[in-house]
Amino acid sequence: MKYIKSNFHVEDVNLQKLAKKFDTPFYCYSYEKLKKNIINFKYHFRKLNPLICFAIKSNSNLSIIKEIKKLGLGADVVSKGELAQALKAGINPKQIVFSGVGKSHLELKYAIEKKILLINSESKSEVFEIEKIAKLKKKIVNIGIRLNPNTDAKTLSKISTGKKGDKFGVNEKIFIELVNYIKKSKYINLKCLSVHIGSQIFENKPYEKMLKVINRIVSKIKYEFEYIDLGGGIGIPYQNEKKIFNYNNYQKSIIKYLGKYNSKIIFEPGRSIVGNAGILVSKIIYIKESQSKNFIILDAGMNDFMRPALYGAKHKIIPVNKKNKSSNKIYEFVGPICESTDKFLSIKKFQKLNENELIIICDVGAYGSSLSSNYNLRSKPAEILIKNSRIIIAKKRQKLRDFI
Ligand code: LLP
Repeated sequence: MKYIKSNFHVEDVNLQKLAKKFDTPFYCYSYEKLKKNIINFKYHFRKLNPLICFAIKSNSNLSIIKEIKKLGLGADVVSKGELAQALKAGINPKQIVFSGVGKSHLELKYAIEKKILLINSESKSEVFEIEKIAKLKKKIVNIGIRLNPNTDAKTLSKISTGKKGDKFGVNEKIFIELVNYIKKSKYINLKCLSVHIGSQIFENKPYEKMLKVINRIVSKIKYEFEYIDLGGGIGIPYQNEKKIFNYNNYQKSIIKYLGKYNSKIIFEPGRSIVGNAGILVSKIIYIKESQSKNFIILDAGMNDFMRPALYGAKHKIIPVNKKNKSSNKIYEFVGPICESTDKFLSIKKFQKLNENELIIICDVGAYGSSLSSNYNLRSKPAEILIKNSRIIIAKKRQKLRDFI
């Protein structure tokens, strides 16, 4: 994704031309970027030879998941819908793990029928429920237990999951009780210890703390886990910040604390795989001038892309066509929705913009389309995948009749 002369291109497709074919707003993904992210992820952790299960919640588009599958990844799912989507994309059930604090009876039954690799359970009650279903079906079910390592991920509080007040996983005491309980069970097989401390993490420290806790517990209980699932969470830069996650340090820490065990490492990355592979293309409907700033009213709203409204996330905004003329005013990019939080970014000094021009909201490949909604009864945008110059409609724009 880059400017060629002054026009933005996704691979070698000119975005201005592409936007003539599809109604805005629309998501557009670059296969090249996706592939590069996956190759890099594998390369960074090559010493561990891990099983990499893509977190479907970050992007649940079928075409995208199919490509991710072809590039060798499994899936981390959190609902029956995500599991069905992963299977539809052709992912081998033996490369699928199922996470989540509230899997329903029906979801557990479905996962057991599909013979997935692991159900990572997050409470005593869930373990008992799995055992009940397994007994009824006369099956032995492989599970993991998600440990809450009481580790502060030092990320946005809204996306932190590994502290003791968080609803996720079980504490050490319950973890050990469950290990002892499952050892005696005829229907469940404990194969995995899983953790996930949060998302958009940049520092190795929280991960190192988490690894220390895992090491302490595993060496104390002397239980051989076939898998240790470290979850996802690796952060990506959204603005021009210099923050870059140091994969090498993380790999070193994993080897230092867990290398002595024979457990296969599982990762569940989402954002680091798809985050920077997607953009949202939107048209300026109106420009509303006021004394202090200009509101740039876009045809994309918080229903199309939720992160800024939900977490105060800041995503870069750039023009589809670069011009030299700039303005000194503050440009506030907002959506058309009747909520004050429906705003994307304020920018001081931007090129001079006009109504009907196109802009790009960057790095929306993760938690973009998957978090979109029909709020204000607006249709969800189309999703276009560019692969080797081919334009693939990964998802059509929703029609009103699909939901009215
Ligand atoms: N595994 C589990 C159990 C998770 O809960 C998550 C994310 C992941 C893996 C993937 O994490 P990642 O590698 O993408 O950081 N909507 C928020 C992020 C919520 C993350 C929820 N869990 C956002 O837009 O920032």
